[in-house]
Amino acid sequence: MSRLPWQESWTLGIELVDAEHRSLVDGVNQLAARFTWDPALAAEPLRAAAGDSLGDPAAEHVALMAALELLAEQAREHFKHEEALMRAIDYPELASHRSEHALLLAEYIEMVRDLERQTQTRLDSETVQSLHHWLVSHMVGADKDYADYYFSMLGRKQAPLGGRQPAASSRG
Ligand SMILES: [Fe+2]
Ligand SMILES: [Fe+2]
Repeated sequence: MSRLPWQESWTLGIELVDAEHRSLVDGVNQLAARFTWDPALAAEPLRAAAGDSLGDPAAEHVALMAALELLAEQAREHFKHEEALMRAIDYPELASHRSEHALLLAEYIEMVRDLERQTQTRLDSETVQSLHHWLVSHMVGADKDYADYYFSMLGRKQAPLGGRQPAASSRG
């Protein structure tokens, strides 16, 4: 329930971007598994890695906040890479895409602040579902749009980052 399986339809065909998207999905899954409400569902290696902090609410809260910050940093880095790519291809929707990234980060920070205020040690299923939606809706929406533009530009100019070649593309 708490796990978000990768869907092949999310693959954009731009190697670096797809690798980072997969890594973000993995990050959300690891976070959900490590900080699940049900200890029986927590993967054993994650429980072992948590060491003595399991069962200590103060330490668990600190661990949760640190894990959430790591994911935020991963997302910030990913957004920077995408924005550099969009600049390199003169993507006309760069400004609105960048605004969407800023909004996504703001929403994430707000969620983290709520969890911090409540001194949470666990992520409830509603929060995990929100994280899934937060990640996937942008990948299949705005990210797919710039990927489509990226592939429409291939053939007209040298691609700035390694992506698939037009001949191997399933896109029109
Ligand atoms: Fe992305
Ligand atoms: Fe994006």
